[in-house]
Amino acid sequence: MEDRILIVDDEEVICNILFKRLGKEGYSCITANNGKEALSHFYQGNFSLIISDINMPEMNGIELLQKVKAIDPKVKMIMVTAYPEIDLAVNAMRLGAYDFIIKPADLDLIVMSVKKALESKRLEEEIEAYHNRLEEMVGERTAKLQQAYRYLKKSHLDSVKVLVEAIDAKDPYTRGHSDRVKRMSLAIAKQMDFSEERLEILEYGALLHDIGKIGIKDEILQKQGPLNSTEYQFIREHPLIGVKIVEGVEFFKNKIPMIRHHHEYYDGGGYPDGLAGEDIPLEARIISLPDAFDAMTSVRPHRGEKPLHDVLSEMEKCKGKQFDPKIVDIFIQGKIYKV
Ligand SMILES: [Fe+2]
Repeated sequence: MEDRILIVDDEEVICNILFKRLGKEGYSCITANNGKEALSHFYQGNFSLIISDINMPEMNGIELLQKVKAIDPKVKMIMVTAYPEIDLAVNAMRLGAYDFIIKPADLDLIVMSVKKALESKRLEEEIEAYHNRLEEMVGERTAKLQQAYRYLKKSHLDSVKVLVEAIDAKDPYTRGHSDRVKRMSLAIAKQMDFSEERLEILEYGALLHDIGKIGIKDEILQKQGPLNSTEYQFIREHPLIGVKIVEGVEFFKNKIPMIRHHHEYYDGGGYPDGLAGEDIPLEARIISLPDAFDAMTSVRPHRGEKPLHDVLSEMEKCKGKQFDPKIVDIFIQGKIYKV
């Protein structure tokens, strides 16, 4: 696109000289006799550069400079004046003028300044276009990465679902247990202001907490009636079996604390490590509540349904013993058991 130049001077002669010379150089020019007239041309036309006198009636060059820069900061402006004062020059440059030339000005000097100003404008535009292109490219790549991440997440979720099916299938009386533990654990964590990222880790950890049960014999898991001490010992192995199953897979690594510690007791009386209080990872302390609640409320062949009220008061009694008291409060007061 050809560069259009706006020449502003209250001396008609100067306008004409500049008009002719710049026309010879191949520029398309328009002239104005003061700032106000120049501004109305500027609103209508697409100018790359303005050469303006400073002292003019109606609107002076400095005021014009400020107005033009406010409309389009990229436009280049060369100031020309017969009254050279250092303060004026400094002020003009500070307001964004490209050059400051003193009259009577050598025409070659003005042409050189015009060429330099337009070249500088072109470079700035190229840099801007390059930046925009880069931003666009980053945007496209980010969208692709997000898509890949969503796909990866879905594949993980699908594989976790298969594992959860396998866990739940080991014990037909607790079908849906992992999913209920997940839902209630997330509801507790939300009340504890977990970040999205932490909620996601908890979601998978809660779904997989009993994955070690895959390694426990069916006759023990499905036994009707109380377990003897040997059988109970086997059951107590499931958190560590779970860790062994998942520890080689990167995606599962941050879920291990939940798999390993969901049977620890707040007073240190749980297994497998006998951790107590806040030494038990928070996620494991959270999961242990819905896990126990769901086990207590599930119907077993040798045991009927337990009234909700009894289960809740039993949990209340286990505050500070089996469970973290703060989490029991959230569970009961927030009616988490209803989610
Ligand atoms: Fe368990």
